[in-house]
Amino acid sequence: MKKVCVVTGGSSGIGLSIVKLFLNNNYHVFNLDRNPSNFGKFCYCDITCHQQVTQIITEIAEHHTIDVLVSNAGIHFSANIENTSEDDLINVFNINVKGAYSAVKAVLPSMKAQKNGAIVIIASDQALVAKHNSFAYNLSKSALASLAKTTALDYAPFNIRANAICPGTIETPLYHQAINNYCEHSGANKDLVHQEEAALQPLNRLGQPEEVAQLALFLASDKATFITGSLQVIDGGYTVQ
Ligand code: NAI
Repeated sequence: MKKVCVVTGGSSGIGLSIVKLFLNNNYHVFNLDRNPSNFGKFCYCDITCHQQVTQIITEIAEHHTIDVLVSNAGIHFSANIENTSEDDLINVFNINVKGAYSAVKAVLPSMKAQKNGAIVIIASDQALVAKHNSFAYNLSKSALASLAKTTALDYAPFNIRANAICPGTIETPLYHQAINNYCEHSGANKDLVHQEEAALQPLNRLGQPEEVAQLALFLASDKATFITGSLQVIDGGYTVQ
């Protein structure tokens, strides 16, 4: 029987690559996103709406055993603390942190019942190191690292594993949006900024979403049965500098 994977934010970038890779590896995939996609079973969902997330995942669990959750939906926000309004902070936390809380909480009853499950949370290298002008995002990603650790501890007795992936700079629509915003404000040249970004990575290039998807597939699989509570860095060497 096919294993079942729920992915949040699976319509673009890293999430889309995850959906495609899990489909190619014989998973039945549900994609909870606010933007539609043709890959996997699309479920319209605003991750900030706790009741909606709970209802969708509970309905999936009524018909399927949920084996894997990849909590991936997220937004970027560039500003230091002084330029981050209370609303900005709340918005970033509602999507990046509260959305993950809702999704993790909703899959646990199904995973507990079967005494098996793998939760993969897409955090960021910014859970480990701070980056300039990223106050709210840094904070939200650190919180996700903690979500993975505490979930791993509390649910180890149910054979539920929870790990966080900490990607460095990955070439996705979110990345391009962040670069565009920066260039609009600073007047910098986009190609140059892109080259400079690549040069910041010891491997001298940005990561690709497919590379992150491979790590998610591994962590979800039976090849990773002793890995839980970990923060898995995938960043071309950025954070060891
Ligand atoms: P993306 O912008 O390409 O995709 C994000 C997806 O999340 C989109 O499909 C979007 O519709 C969905 N989403 C956003 N807000 C939502 C909401 N309220 N409800 C439902 N869906 C929502 O972004 P990307 O780059 O693929 O990022 C995915 C995750 O990876 C994010 O959590 C991001 O913080 C993280 N990440 C990205 C890095 C990068 O360099 N691209 C680096 C490290 C982490």
